[in-house]
Amino acid sequence: MPKPGSSPESIDNSSDKGRISRRVLLGTGWCGFLLSIVGPALANIRFLFPNVVYEGPTLLKVGRPEDYASGTITFLDEQRLFIMRDPEGLRALSAICTHLRCTTGPFMPPTAEWKEDHSRCPCHGSIFAKDGRVLQGPAPRPLEFYRVSLAPDGRLVVDTAAVVDKGDVLKV
Ligand code: FES
Repeated sequence: MPKPGSSPESIDNSSDKGRISRRVLLGTGWCGFLLSIVGPALANIRFLFPNVVYEGPTLLKVGRPEDYASGTITFLDEQRLFIMRDPEGLRALSAICTHLRCTTGPFMPPTAEWKEDHSRCPCHGSIFAKDGRVLQGPAPRPLEFYRVSLAPDGRLVVDTAAVVDKGDVLKV
């Protein structure tokens, strides 16, 4: 009990120690409320800027026609391509497996099991023929052929965005 004549500041508050004041409680509540509004708002703003996958260029320069001898299949590991040259001309066959997009291996000569040249995907064992056919799954589709053209500087350009029929040949 305060002594008569003592100021209000000198009142003993020892019983309030450890209690949260009303001001702190309200401040914490407001902070939580604002966070619950600002957080989703920021997430919605982020949603306006979708993740973009930047893929490499689709036009690939792959050398000159004379770099590829007739009757050969050249495996371009980095570009994930096969350049095939036969008496008809040049073709570009994708080396990207149609199962889960691993790079298939180079073409190998016929074996007892596979009676024609074949390329094996190292990931799950799909086997492809020279014309892109699936000889063994799990690949669901044949390999794709891409358009091949000649650039003004005489170099070959493969457009990996232009899928063509396997009969589409660059005559050189
Ligand atoms: S990625 Fe080629 S078989 Fe699975």
